[in-house]
Amino acid sequence: MDDALLELRGLSKTFDMGKGERLRAVRDVSLAVRRGESLGIVGESGCGKSTIARMVAQLTEVTGGQILFDGRDVTNLPRGRRRELWRRVQMVFQDPYSVFSPRMTVGDFLTEGLVHFGIASRAKARERLPELLARVELPPELAERLPHQLSGGQQQRVVIARALSIQPDLLILDEATSALDVSVQRQILKLLMRLKAELGLTMLFIGHDLAVVRSVTDRIAVMYAGSLVEQLPSDRLVETAAHPYTRRLLDSVFSTGDRGRKQIAIEDLSLIEKGRQLAGCPYQPRCAIATGICSGTCPSLTAVGENHSIACFARQGEELQ
Ligand SMILES: Nc1ncnc2c1ncn2[C@@H]1O[C@H](COP(=O)(O)OP(=O)(O)OP(=O)(O)O)[C@@H](O)[C@H]1O
Ligand SMILES: [Mg+2]
Repeated sequence: MDDALLELRGLSKTFDMGKGERLRAVRDVSLAVRRGESLGIVGESGCGKSTIARMVAQLTEVTGGQILFDGRDVTNLPRGRRRELWRRVQMVFQDPYSVFSPRMTVGDFLTEGLVHFGIASRAKARERLPELLARVELPPELAERLPHQLSGGQQQRVVIARALSIQPDLLILDEATSALDVSVQRQILKLLMRLKAELGLTMLFIGHDLAVVRSVTDRIAVMYAGSLVEQLPSDRLVETAAHPYTRRLLDSVFSTGDRGRKQIAIEDLSLIEKGRQLAGCPYQPRCAIATGICSGTCPSLTAVGENHSIACFARQGEELQ
């Protein structure tokens, strides 16, 4: 992709679990995020979403493949060169409280990045506080508060404001709204969409809830047991999703509601593990349309339409006919 800000090429991560056991957390993932685009990564717990984010942010070592950022290979940067990447790639996690130090005021927390990266002096950074808070729709007086004096939604807004303070090129949000009440979550999602439009932000939005991820992204990458199984435009998700796993996620979100979603998570843990061990398609143990080829050979992502690709022998055959 020519205008890609981030490109993953065959990215893999294998954890050494000791006693000769290895866990393939991410398997041969290739994808790209264009400048100004919001790409969602969705899939159930343990499928490798955070591991991808952590490899991009140089928090976990890559064991296979490549990461390109702004056209440069940044795979496993040496310690001394990570700082520049950390200025350009910012991450927001699920639990905002964990990133605050309890005795640091919101103002100190918000200006820390600007000072740390030498973008502004402490005094100049403090002058910018009202603007930084306003950007996330918070009043200026919040600068004097301590983190425990904020609501969860306010805390997450402050964390987003700090991430944006140093004008990163890429914002990675890893389950950033998952712990919030539905109404607060909706407000933060709206805020993110406004910021994306105003600042031309490039975002990687990670989540397990397909409906949430769809609402703030341009494209969605669906992961299953470490592999990418489908990529498609968010606004055509319901109509065009073709992989049996994506269809199953869709059914659980849009028809059976929460109960269905929970059942999927509990029911299939051992099947997910079984899928990880296979040489073939990881979804094969759960798949209703699997054929003989699926257990022996792993399907690769193949284009089936505009901006749409799937890794599924059965569906690829149908779509391409
Ligand atoms: N440091 C680690 N050492 C060993 N295994 C790990 C480590 N980090 C993650 N894993 C394993 O790698 C797999 C992928 O984990 P990851 O955290 O990327 O999943 P996830 O998709 O982000 O899940 P969730 O939705 O629960 O956040 C899981 O099986 C997990 O147990
Ligand atoms: Mg995670």
